[in-house]
Amino acid sequence: MAIYQILGENEPSLREKARPVPKITPNIIKLLDNMAETMYAAKGVGLAAPQIGVPKRVIIVDVGEELHELINPVIISRSDEEEIDSEGCLSVPEKLGDVSRATRIVIEGLNRAGETARLEAEGYLARAFQHETDHLEGILFTDIAESVYLRPPKEYDAEDDTEDEPEDEPEPGESEKG
Ligand code: NI
Repeated sequence: MAIYQILGENEPSLREKARPVPKITPNIIKLLDNMAETMYAAKGVGLAAPQIGVPKRVIIVDVGEELHELINPVIISRSDEEEIDSEGCLSVPEKLGDVSRATRIVIEGLNRAGETARLEAEGYLARAFQHETDHLEGILFTDIAESVYLRPPKEYDAEDDTEDEPEDEPEPGESEKG
């Protein structure tokens, strides 16, 4: 496996529409494995293939429960209800934004075995899937956020004098990075 470099927000390839995967080959399996390694190394909760320079419709998400891998994902329904929450992105590491997202979605795609996988997600997981599928359209959260602001430094909390190690992240409610 290998850890890829994650492209920053100014990379033109992040703005392109990703192409469908016509067939699941060993290279796609390798891509999934390497994306997971890259995401976990960066302490993210999601990653889309365009973020590592691969313009294919492949996403992974793990908000702390389990790893979801989807090839050619499509959000087939979204709740009318939306909620605004703070969101971040591994490609935009220095910023956060308040983004309105559907609170519940149904997403469908292929798993690595080539089988159709359908998932119902809500809350934080639904937000992560919406964020990652946006990447496949060349959309970043900063495009749709109601406000964008600098991510506060998280190395030390001025009001916290305990000896927690800085790498003990993320905290509950930590913004999505994907
Ligand atoms: Ni992202």
